[in-house]
Amino acid sequence: MRPLKKVVITGGAGQVAYSLLFLIARGDLFGPDQPIALHLHDLPEMQKCLEGVAMELEDCAFPLLKEIKIGSDVQELFGGVHFAFLIGSKPRGPGMERKDLLLENGKIFIEQGQALNRFASPDVRVLVVGNPCNANCLIALKNAPDLNPRQFFALTRLDQNRAVYQLAAYAKADVAEVENVTIWGNHSTTQVPDFLNAKIHGRAACQVVKDRQWLENDFFTKVQKRGAEVITCRGKSSAASAAKAALDAMQSVVKPTEAGHWFSMGVYSRGNPYGIDEDLVFSFPCRSRGLGDIEIVPNLGLDPFLKEKLAISQKELMEERTLIAHLLKG
Ligand SMILES: NC(=O)c1ccc[n+]([C@@H]2O[C@H](COP(=O)([O-])OP(=O)(O)OC[C@H]3O[C@@H](n4cnc5c(N)ncnc54)[C@H](O)[C@@H]3O)[C@@H](O)[C@H]2O)c1
Repeated sequence: MRPLKKVVITGGAGQVAYSLLFLIARGDLFGPDQPIALHLHDLPEMQKCLEGVAMELEDCAFPLLKEIKIGSDVQELFGGVHFAFLIGSKPRGPGMERKDLLLENGKIFIEQGQALNRFASPDVRVLVVGNPCNANCLIALKNAPDLNPRQFFALTRLDQNRAVYQLAAYAKADVAEVENVTIWGNHSTTQVPDFLNAKIHGRAACQVVKDRQWLENDFFTKVQKRGAEVITCRGKSSAASAAKAALDAMQSVVKPTEAGHWFSMGVYSRGNPYGIDEDLVFSFPCRSRGLGDIEIVPNLGLDPFLKEKLAISQKELMEERTLIAHLLKG
């Protein structure tokens, strides 16, 4: 029997976690031979709900799920974890600006960064899902000085998956034939879905979809605003698709990436090969050497249209970083 892999999920009583937990527990993340411990963290007032979720996990009788812990004590819940999905955060309230959300949720990621630093396994890999996820990821990694910033990731995989679907639907291709789609920048409406380096059945996407107008306008805005569109229709933000994307993202971290392929991930920008400002969490094309060792894929070509869009997203992230600096000082 392999040693247990311990996974903490914050916001364990929330809707993204409710979709994610059962995927992990049945072995979708680490495969059929890997025993798992799940630690569900949430606020004290959500403990009753966590008890219900834990009962449901028990009632699934998952053979790989060897241990469930629930609670709100970070020492207990983050202790010895190998993987952390930081989902717990407050939703944006009525009239609340993105800036207010950042300041409110940022405090959560100060505490959780510190908890990871003190209590998690030194090789922990951390995926930040709670929004604004790039900013929260930067806050968490800055509060974990003993961990390498390269152990922290922000989720832009849902945006990638959305872009894959839109390209496939337009080109009348199968989603499996759409590859190497990069989301650059922030997980926000300034994100940059890259149609230049994407491929559809092995050919450059813009040779298959020849309508540049569609690529620059409809495709772009569809991907950038898909989250808001889901909220309008469902009355709640994306949950199952976010959980699937979080699983995809962590799988990509753990498994070596096939030669010639890459995936999108928000990673620390220090030393990046694209001249993006250092000290941001920025979404890049990434590949994994396996076991959580991620590098940015260099040498992708960008045209003036995409470069201009990238600069806008970078500016937004730099403004968010200024707010973070105030938060961390205060
Ligand atoms: N990056 C992405 O692609 C993406 C996609 C979907 C959702 N999200 C974000 O994920 C987050 C969760 O979404 P959801 O739909 O599950 O929300 P939700 O409101 O259903 O659940 C959030 C949970 O977090 C908990 N929580 C709040 N503060 C906490 C704290 N300090 N510590 C631990 N838990 C805390 C809440 O009690 C709640 O149970 C949101 O910030 C959302 O915007 C990101």
